[in-house]
Amino acid sequence: WTATRDKNCKLPMPKGSMGFPIIGETCHWFFQGAGFHASRRQKYGNVFKTHLLGRPLIRVTGAENIRKVLMGEHSLVTVDWPQSTSTLLGPNSLANSIGDIHRKRRKIFAKVFSHEALESYLPKIQLVIQETLRVWSSNPDPINVYRESQRLSFHMAVRVLLGFRVSEEEMHGLFHTFQDFVENLFSLPIDLPFSGYRKGIRARDTLQKCIEKAIREKPLHTQGKDYTDALDVLLESAKENNTELTMQELKESTIELIFAAFATTASASTSLIMQLLRHPAVLEKLREELRSCGLLHDGCLCQGELRLESIISLKYLDCVIKEVLRLFAPVSGGYRIATQTFELDGVQVPKGWSVMYSIRDTHDTSAVFKDVEAFDPDRFSPERNEDREGRFHYLPFGGGVRSCLGKQLATLFLKLLAVELAGGSRFELATRTFPRLISVPVVHPTDGLRVKFFGLD
Ligand code: HEM
Repeated sequence: WTATRDKNCKLPMPKGSMGFPIIGETCHWFFQGAGFHASRRQKYGNVFKTHLLGRPLIRVTGAENIRKVLMGEHSLVTVDWPQSTSTLLGPNSLANSIGDIHRKRRKIFAKVFSHEALESYLPKIQLVIQETLRVWSSNPDPINVYRESQRLSFHMAVRVLLGFRVSEEEMHGLFHTFQDFVENLFSLPIDLPFSGYRKGIRARDTLQKCIEKAIREKPLHTQGKDYTDALDVLLESAKENNTELTMQELKESTIELIFAAFATTASASTSLIMQLLRHPAVLEKLREELRSCGLLHDGCLCQGELRLESIISLKYLDCVIKEVLRLFAPVSGGYRIATQTFELDGVQVPKGWSVMYSIRDTHDTSAVFKDVEAFDPDRFSPERNEDREGRFHYLPFGGGVRSCLGKQLATLFLKLLAVELAGGSRFELATRTFPRLISVPVVHPTDGLRVKFFGLD
């Protein structure tokens, strides 16, 4: 709370309020959600100071400022998650690694998301989505889209990505423990009985135990290129890089992968479904594209094997997913710490201060997007290409050396979901109006979004 300015630097400190001792502005942040940052940005400018989750923080918005932060990794800043997140993810996670160790771990992980690996996950992801939509459609009642999308992305991460053979009952237990873990990742680091932080630690320990059991029971296929899941690819990639992953490293990596995939993809899936409901013309244009590529015939999706290339070739689908991730970026930003004092937007960012770059605020305020609040997938068409102005105006997956490793997998998942929705489902909003959105820990509707699914006519 007492972090101070760098007296050797003549530049002023960013404007802003540090709130109350210890808790700072954490309570305002929880209750105001996205409005917290927007209101302070309007009052204090694109670079402002605050105090969140037990420490002082400088919040940064705007493409040029973010470019400087993200490209300054190693020289100006390094990673610095809130203490709760850092402890819960563990010292072996990518999120907590820096410098050469980060580079080496990223190289091992990269193979998990290669084109070849994605091609091998595709049919399994498609199957999980089809089964889920069948279950949603057979339910006589409306479903809570956000909660069920969380189950879907958890299922995708645990069964498809990691290849764990867990029973339905174990899966149910794991899912609830994981929800406890994620809900408390961003909590005040106060280790007392019943505190969020203690709950998170308990959930992490339970998860690590279950995951160790699942890893030991899992048949491993690390010979040749016939991958069955991401864990096999990860082990093989580690071997190729002359590294042996310890059980602790595997457990932490596994939890990190599920965490990275779980909340983000569930949030984006829910936003996608909401936008397709709000914009029937977009849904119809998607169907038209599927028809013109021969993937949709007489209102039915062709049941042949879908290839990665065919998904990549669907240009309008690409625009729709990009626009969902622009207007409803699931991750609000990333955390860093200043390793030296530097200038940003005319003010100083003193050494030792935490810095959070804002993805959602940057999308919301970027001048390169015309009619910035409108849902308009065509802004990403080759003719308009509004994000050509520079990659830091549009950054749902972050940027620089710590950009999202699962970007292609997440995009593939969302595209497959959109194809199944456009090709094989009928769905209607079950409430009179669309719900309000909240943004902590990821963007999601207050009531979860109630939708009735009917399946094929
Ligand atoms: C990092 C967004 C899905 C794996 C990130 C970052 C963002 C992001 C913004 C950078 C955070 C920072 O700068 O500190 C998203 C969004 C997703 C998504 C919006 C879905 C729509 C996934 C999936 C996986 C994944 C499905 C893998 C299964 C990772 C990993 C990192 C990361 C491992 C850490 C990279 C590093 O530290 O080097 N993600 N992500 N993400 N993401 Fe994703």
